[in-house]
Amino acid sequence: MELIEITGETEAGKLRVLLEEIAKIDTAVFGESRWGREAFYENIHNPYDHLIAAVEASEDVTEVSGYALLRVLQDAEVIMIAVKSGMRRQGTGRKLAKRLIELAASDGAESIFLEVRESNIPAIGMYEELGFTVFGRRKGYYNSPREDALIMRYIC
Ligand SMILES: CC(C)(COP(=O)(O)OP(=O)(O)OC[C@H]1O[C@@H](n2cnc3c(N)ncnc32)[C@H](O)[C@@H]1OP(=O)(O)O)[C@@H](O)C(=O)NCCC(=O)NCCS
Repeated sequence: MELIEITGETEAGKLRVLLEEIAKIDTAVFGESRWGREAFYENIHNPYDHLIAAVEASEDVTEVSGYALLRVLQDAEVIMIAVKSGMRRQGTGRKLAKRLIELAASDGAESIFLEVRESNIPAIGMYEELGFTVFGRRKGYYNSPREDALIMRYIC
């Protein structure tokens, strides 16, 4: 598995395949709250955003197993991170998150923030293992089902 940053410079054919694969995972994982393909196109042209794909490449097939999106302003924010459901628990999420940490640090961010459903044990476990700590809570932040968000922070 290799991690690829998708940018406006990515070759058009490769870009189309990668974004199609990402959009499929996005829909499967987030359903109605999905980001949507057009939004990913915008992200790759936004100088503050880093879109990373985890790619399992063989000679003729490109399969994306996960993706992550980081926004770096003064601080950085993990906008999303997801791994295909059949490919979880193989270290892909951790690798993606570690790459986001490296990118935030190299872009000069002091902290990385993120929001996560308080019931999302896999994600919270992964972030804690990487050094994120709970910084606060947003009451009733999520809908369907309604739930608090934990705000987590990593100090770069
Ligand atoms: C969160 C997510 C990205 C993790 O991806 P992953 O590739 O399965 O994670 P990894 O295999 O790298 O696991 C890293 C660590 O996270 C924790 N973790 C991952 N899945 C877990 C689970 N089901 N239960 C408990 N801890 C878990 C463990 O500490 C794990 O380390 P270990 O396997 O050595 O014990 C994945 O579960 C996912 O896509 N979830 C749906 C989308 C989502 O919730 N995104 C986060 C929104 S903020």
